[in-house]
Amino acid sequence: MAQQGIPLLPMVVLAMLSQCSAWLTPRISFPQGSPGRPLVRFHRPGVSNTTMLLLSRDGDTLFVGARDAVLSLDVSQKEAIGIRSKLDWSPSEKDLQQCSMKGKEMTDCPNFIRVLQFLNTTHMYACGTYAFSPRCTYMLTETLLMASQSSRPEEGRGRCPYDPYQRSTAITVDGELYTATVADYRGNRPVISRHLSPVDLKLDDTLGWLEDPTFISSSFIPSEEKIYFFFSEVGREYDFIDKFIVSRVAQICTSDVGGQRTLQRRWTTFAKAQLLCQASSELPYNVVQDIIDLPPPEGAPADDTLFYGIFTSQWSVNSGQSAVCAFRLGDIKAAFSRNYKVLNRDTLRWSTRVQEKIANPGECGLHNASDNTLRFVKDNFLADDSVQPVGRSLTMVSHDQKYSHLVAQRVRAANHRDYTILFLLTDSGYLHKAVLLEKGAHIIEEVQVFQQHQAIVSMQLSVSKGVVFVGSSEGVVRVPVASCSVYSSCAQCVLARDPFCGWAPERTACVEVSPVPASLGQDVDAGNVEEVCSTAPLSPRARFGPNSLTTGETLSVSLNQVVRLQCPGASRHAQRLWERPDSRISPDLCLHMEDGGLRFVATPATLGQYLCLSTELGHRQVLAVYNVEQRTPAPAPPAAAAANATTARAHAHPAPTPTPTAWTTAPPGGPGLATTTGAKVRGEVKRHAAGAAVPSGAPEPRPPTGAGGVAPSGWPRDVGSKDGGRLPLALRPSYLRELVAVSTLLALCLSALLAVALGAVRQRCRKRTAPQAADGGAEREALRGEPPAGADGQRANGRGARGGRPHSATPKAANGHLPNTPL
Ligand SMILES: *[C@@H]1O[C@H](CO)[C@@H](O)[C@H](O)[C@H]1NC(C)=O
Ligand SMILES: *[C@@H]1O[C@H](CO)[C@@H](O)[C@H](O)[C@H]1NC(C)=O
Ligand SMILES: *[C@@H]1O[C@H](CO)[C@@H](O)[C@H](O)[C@H]1NC(C)=O
Ligand SMILES: *[C@@H]1O[C@H](CO)[C@@H](O)[C@H](O)[C@H]1NC(C)=O
Repeated sequence: MAQQGIPLLPMVVLAMLSQCSAWLTPRISFPQGSPGRPLVRFHRPGVSNTTMLLLSRDGDTLFVGARDAVLSLDVSQKEAIGIRSKLDWSPSEKDLQQCSMKGKEMTDCPNFIRVLQFLNTTHMYACGTYAFSPRCTYMLTETLLMASQSSRPEEGRGRCPYDPYQRSTAITVDGELYTATVADYRGNRPVISRHLSPVDLKLDDTLGWLEDPTFISSSFIPSEEKIYFFFSEVGREYDFIDKFIVSRVAQICTSDVGGQRTLQRRWTTFAKAQLLCQASSELPYNVVQDIIDLPPPEGAPADDTLFYGIFTSQWSVNSGQSAVCAFRLGDIKAAFSRNYKVLNRDTLRWSTRVQEKIANPGECGLHNASDNTLRFVKDNFLADDSVQPVGRSLTMVSHDQKYSHLVAQRVRAANHRDYTILFLLTDSGYLHKAVLLEKGAHIIEEVQVFQQHQAIVSMQLSVSKGVVFVGSSEGVVRVPVASCSVYSSCAQCVLARDPFCGWAPERTACVEVSPVPASLGQDVDAGNVEEVCSTAPLSPRARFGPNSLTTGETLSVSLNQVVRLQCPGASRHAQRLWERPDSRISPDLCLHMEDGGLRFVATPATLGQYLCLSTELGHRQVLAVYNVEQRTPAPAPPAAAAANATTARAHAHPAPTPTPTAWTTAPPGGPGLATTTGAKVRGEVKRHAAGAAVPSGAPEPRPPTGAGGVAPSGWPRDVGSKDGGRLPLALRPSYLRELVAVSTLLALCLSALLAVALGAVRQRCRKRTAPQAADGGAEREALRGEPPAGADGQRANGRGARGGRPHSATPKAANGHLPNTPL
């Protein structure tokens, strides 16, 4: 990662940028508290760690597993979340003491609910970690009263983890509980089991079925009568590389009752296969983080059920990145119906088949098969083929976000076509809403749902209510799937490309698409404003937003004053540029800021009108209009309410003498420009901006970093506009000083920017293709199984996880055989 850095020219940066420009950025960002995207939050004193969510069928009640409590919340109202009932369920003082004596942190000893399931119409079932000694209980759904057969809660071993941070999964089918968790205190004994059933089953105790797994989720597919478990584990079939993690899907049949002699009370239908989330020639995204099912569209076969998963990579070169892959049920079934690898139970090594195929592993109904058949099943449960993602490609990749959880929904858009929407939660607490289009994913918006990184989170989507619930230790948040009214014009509505939202010309509003057919303006695929918004008979204002205003905002400035104009921008996908209707903007006199703002020194030549234009998907709109005038010596007009405060401040600092910094300029004052006080200022100001095509209460992008941060804040403000101190203001150091400062600063900024951009771009670009020797060398070598010199990293990487035979790998096997070859 050295050498090349020095002679690179801006050209190269540009080339690299264009090469990597497919990074996904949410179009609009709503930080917590944005008026454009109000969220309803449930948070009560005494209720904490609300991290396990379960939604009632009608969507009116949200059951929450918390710390030492189970709650049922009334979520039928849009404006508030109320509490219906609460079950307090904490370990006794003695249990807590024992927990702490065992060396556990006191903060981890409470009873964290980890299993919360409906059993039947009247009862629920819950399990908690209960001071590292898991317990379970029946509860009445209506009242949350404990309804244990015996009065004491049941032992929860094998149903619930001991450690609250250990991941596990549970699902009930016909009142029977299927779980995948660890069944011991140390977390070394993973088990997939069935409880509350006439014949409880579990995975055979012998070694080799699971290899240090992390359980993620489970799905019941009724048409198959199978439950699928998703997890990651050590891929022992790749024994040429140490601890290579693979993602898996495993299956069991709900009809399984275990063998008669062999595999008595054990699964006879357990089989597993590898899930591959990898783009050709890149390192695989090998660690599944979350996976959910999306039922097929109406009328489509069950095989079209899709499983959307978030995957990250075990290698540090890909840290901070994640990918989404989709797997088809039909492809999973196909992998399970083909060949299986053979486990040598003496050496615990895998090989491809040499034995005659005696049975079809994974097939339902093996329970009264012969001992011979079941012995075969015991050694043949890993499918030889991996499951490839739909389209053999990644659904989406984020190079700067680590997603942790997702939910998916199919939405019928105004054109009566279905679009898949993914809600993806980032590690940093933002919920991204992405629509999957043929050209790739488009992230419509992001909404901040919590502030601190959360170890444990859960999400529930209520399609009927149009809400996503996010449960974290900061409480439960209700996020509406869409908030169309933030788009105030047809252009804004269409540019959002949100299948949930369409422009209703007769109401001149952006509204939610309803099942009742209505002619709404929408273009999810292309966002073509001219086409959609020109057909309806609209006033130009409704069509393109309130930006046909030409009067603009008047700024009174003094000559030689540094003027900063800000261009408000809701969309991060728009390009912004400045224009002057009456003359051109001279690059010698004006400086375009990285954040879209414009900076210049007021001279007779630079006075006049300025327009900030944005172009998005070929649609051009005016975002702001400023009239820069020379200030009359008269005192500030009294019109502005805010003026007083700033005037007072200005008086507090008498006229500035030439400053030691030489560079002085206005404090941040206008929309769209963040300096030291960033977002807060913008939030207030935006609504005033004349001609701004920003919806009222509009979303604000998170403050850009770095840009404009050079201005010392707290300088006296000069009040020049009728709106008060928010406008560019005047200081009066000498013109020459300013000019020298500007030039120096420009040079500095440019070189810094270049360096940063180069660094970032090169790093990311390289990450996408090949790992770097610096941090990934050892891993790559191991993956590749050959000396690094002159090796072709990409080829080797690809092979690493593809399940293919590692021809050039140096096997570590003691017996000298290649892995995956017949022993
Ligand atoms: C419970 O919440 C606290 C913050 O309120 C957090 O630090 C802790 O990690 C959470 N514990 C679990 C097990 O979720
Ligand atoms: C639901 O399950 C509970 C616990 O097994 C049982 O006591 C109850 O009778 C069941 N209710 C119905 C309606 O089946
Ligand atoms: C398999 O077992 C079921 C009961 O579990 C029995 O009814 C059936 O006859 C058995 N089939 C064979 C082929 O043994
Ligand atoms: C202006 O500020 C002064 C003192 O800062 C205050 O006494 C006065 O009431 C203010 N006037 C208005 C109109 O806010």
